[in-house]
Amino acid sequence: MTMPGPWPYTATRSDVGVLTVGGVAVTDLAAEYGTPLWVVDEEDLRERCRRYREGFPGVDVTYASKAWCTMGVLQIVDEEGLLIDVASEGEMHTALVAGVPADRLILHGNNKSEHELDRALEAGVLRIVVDSFDELERLERLAAARDVVVPIWLRITPGIDAHTHEYVRTGHDDAKFGFTLSLGLADEAFARALELDHLDVVGIHAHIGSQIFGTDPFIANAEVTLDLLARWREQHGVVLDELNLGGGMGIRYTHEDHPVEVARYGKAVLETVAERCEALDYPQPRLIVEPGRAIVGPSTVTLYEVGTVKPLPGLTTWVSIDGGMSDNIRPALYDAEHEVALVSRESDAEPRAVTVVGKHCESGDLVREHAPLPSDLAVGDLLAVAATGAYTSSMASNYNRLPRPAAVLVRDGQVRPLLRRETLDDVVRRDVSLR
Ligand code: LLP
Repeated sequence: MTMPGPWPYTATRSDVGVLTVGGVAVTDLAAEYGTPLWVVDEEDLRERCRRYREGFPGVDVTYASKAWCTMGVLQIVDEEGLLIDVASEGEMHTALVAGVPADRLILHGNNKSEHELDRALEAGVLRIVVDSFDELERLERLAAARDVVVPIWLRITPGIDAHTHEYVRTGHDDAKFGFTLSLGLADEAFARALELDHLDVVGIHAHIGSQIFGTDPFIANAEVTLDLLARWREQHGVVLDELNLGGGMGIRYTHEDHPVEVARYGKAVLETVAERCEALDYPQPRLIVEPGRAIVGPSTVTLYEVGTVKPLPGLTTWVSIDGGMSDNIRPALYDAEHEVALVSRESDAEPRAVTVVGKHCESGDLVREHAPLPSDLAVGDLLAVAATGAYTSSMASNYNRLPRPAAVLVRDGQVRPLLRRETLDDVVRRDVSLR
């Protein structure tokens, strides 16, 4: 039986109702690797990279590694021919240690330290995205000290309000990222950069937000940024030929989510760019897009074991699993809803709405409210949570001193570890004892 909707491409149920991913039964994975466990469908991950490249022909598709920055994921994405965006020295270090060539990396961040910038120069990353006036001066100084000219993009805040959760909006005027266009800061930054001897502005970047469902905000972003490039050509006689339109396409977390297919999204953006360039008589720039969630999110499910079931008559039935907000902060932070399913057996029992919660010491530690799960759900059952590849492991913590889960990659019946489970020794490793 196929698992449609938010589940990975190869997810199916056996005839006894056990979920298999990549040809491996999750009951076997739980027995071997324990729970909670991130199970990554390698075929799904690779297929989404390919669909992005097909959907955006001629465009540099760049994986936003903040979604999940672990060596194995970066190696797969690199093998599939994507560039990689890194937003800190830690992400850059992971990519370099994973063997990703530095000239496949783009460095982001609204507060890159001198040390981070210098390491990027040392490594020779492809592009640095400059986010502020302070950074322009800082990078100029570092480039001068190395006697190099550094190709940069300016991060523009284009004044586009993508209607998504407040915490994942970035394109509106009053944002912490980039040079706000409507306040004249983008113009000022460009004029200033033109005066600097060791920085070469070769393009601009604008990312408007995340988990966006329609194409309209992306179209608006392309139009606004191309208009800006054309205006700068008039004002300064300079033609910039690189345009990074950021990431942000949404994914399915539940059956109710209906994001746009990447083919349609790509077509809409590419047509807009072609039309606008023609109207402005501007040479078509090299384009870059930066998906994170849409590459890695749908590939992964998190497996948990049910530890307690507490039905309160007339009130909620609370189902506690063996992880929670330390391995997926998204429900607590963004009210995110991920689909949940019983995956270790079949059940004909009537579904009833239960609230699945984690084992942390606070009430906001939700996995899913009102999840329709079989009424015979019992201690020891395995639950899977869908679409947990993006922003779960990468935002994981040791809250309540829970060791962080393991992750495995599954494909054609084979299992390869991606992350080993943390041990309790790992958990106390950085503590300095006073005894
Ligand atoms: N480019 C830049 C400059 C970004 O800041 C981001 C995401 C992306 C690309 C990729 O966006 P995506 O395609 O993944 O939507 N933790 C939140 C999401 C934060 C997104 C941060 N920036 C969540 O769990 O929903």
